[in-house]
Amino acid sequence: MIGEIHGEGGSPGERFWEEHYRAYTRPSNGRPSGALVRFAGPLPEGTALDLGCAQGDDAVWLARRGWRVVAVDVSGTVLARAARNAEAAGVSDLIDFQRHDLASTFPDGRFDLVSALFLHSPVEFPRTRVLQAAARAVAPGGLLLIVEHASVAPWSWDDPDKAFPTPEQSLDALDLDPARWHSEFVGAPEREATGPNGQSATVTDNVIALRRLAR
Ligand SMILES: C[S@@+](CC[C@H](N)C(=O)[O-])C[C@H]1O[C@@H](n2cnc3c(N)ncnc32)[C@H](O)[C@@H]1O
Repeated sequence: MIGEIHGEGGSPGERFWEEHYRAYTRPSNGRPSGALVRFAGPLPEGTALDLGCAQGDDAVWLARRGWRVVAVDVSGTVLARAARNAEAAGVSDLIDFQRHDLASTFPDGRFDLVSALFLHSPVEFPRTRVLQAAARAVAPGGLLLIVEHASVAPWSWDDPDKAFPTPEQSLDALDLDPARWHSEFVGAPEREATGPNGQSATVTDNVIALRRLAR
């Protein structure tokens, strides 16, 4: 079920992603992100916030491991699809799907895990401000996990010559108080990615995993 709908709707971000998901109807592969498995896999279950959840693969993976998840996206179409995927996996009761345009509203609460995995948008999006709100939503002792593109996949809408920040530059942009965070991993690993038509390529991601100190 989609529990809450926030914001007026009809923003450029919502229009873009609604159109995208209405046209792009291919089911997801149901697999969680590798970075999520790597960093959340060893953690005990708790509360999680997944920003830009798309078809819900990461939220379902967390819920299957006992996490209670708030999963957010701007597109009602993809949230409905994600809610159906959660129902098919038998974990609907553990996932609260909320529609937010994160440019204007943000879910309430503090969470043991806050993930923003490829939270990119080709339309205007105050990404740094949203990631700073994500950091504020991490409970003491909790983990902030940010994964972003650091190279252009051949099937991407991005300019192939686009220059990307290093993970350290992305982290600096968040302007977090270093006395309150422990860096678990800040790096740019490569991974084998699969495109929308099944094609594959080696891509680079910036991965930032930070633990909020418990004081
Ligand atoms: C590139 S996709 C990544 C999806 C997924 N997290 C993953 O790792 O595959 C970005 C997602 O963020 C969502 N999104 C983009 N702009 C948003 C906004 N302003 N508010 C909330 N979600 C947004 C999109 O609808 C889309 O599902």
